[in-house]
Amino acid sequence: MANNTLLRIKIIVGSTRQNRFSEKPAGWIFEETKKLEGVEAELLDLRDYPMPFIDDPMPPSMAKGQYSNEIVKKWAEKINDGDAFIIVTPEYNHGYSAVLKNALDVIYPEWNRKPVGFVSYGSAVGARAVEQLRQVAVELQMAPIRNSIHIPVDIFFAAMMGKGPTGPEMFKPVREGMMGDRVQIFFDDLLWWAKALKAARTKSA
Ligand SMILES: Cc1cc2nc3c(=O)[nH]c(=O)nc-3n(C[C@H](O)[C@H](O)[C@H](O)COP(=O)(O)O)c2cc1C
Repeated sequence: MANNTLLRIKIIVGSTRQNRFSEKPAGWIFEETKKLEGVEAELLDLRDYPMPFIDDPMPPSMAKGQYSNEIVKKWAEKINDGDAFIIVTPEYNHGYSAVLKNALDVIYPEWNRKPVGFVSYGSAVGARAVEQLRQVAVELQMAPIRNSIHIPVDIFFAAMMGKGPTGPEMFKPVREGMMGDRVQIFFDDLLWWAKALKAARTKSA
């Protein structure tokens, strides 16, 4: 596949907490993404991007991609390189994590006109955090896709209590539930938007 049709999908680990669960679904969906044809997947761990809380004098939407902090610059390069994003989010007090909000806010044009899908978990499958993220994504001029992967509560709780499998096999039921293969449905949606928006961005560049 020629380079201009290769889709670069970045998977973002939305928790930096010690003992975080997020790295398990993130690692799993990263491996699943790597299997897709015509896709180059990369895992972006916010622990590797310890950015300050946003402090640039100019709002990122007006800064024309100029950022003063070196880590923010590196983050901006990574996001700029992406054609689509998968955000793996926890739910903290019915919202998403502060570290994720900061990572979204510190840059702007790099997100624009690109799709984003969500993987979440929690007592209400992380749905409340995902709904908030959709609102933020629209303001970042992103296209939040309809289908998400919500890790079933029993899988999440079992892993947290050490009462279930701890490896990627724990996510097998996500592909085998009553609602069909949620991973396939999710990727079909994400790739459709990724291809459509990449073509449109290339045309208007
Ligand atoms: C500050 C805080 C607030 C939380 N609030 C919620 C919540 O509103 N809903 C929920 O389902 N779980 C909540 N939890 C439990 C998390 O779902 C659980 O700790 C999960 O492992 C967090 O993801 P992480 O391990 O990837 O950071 C909360 C946890 C923390 C640390």
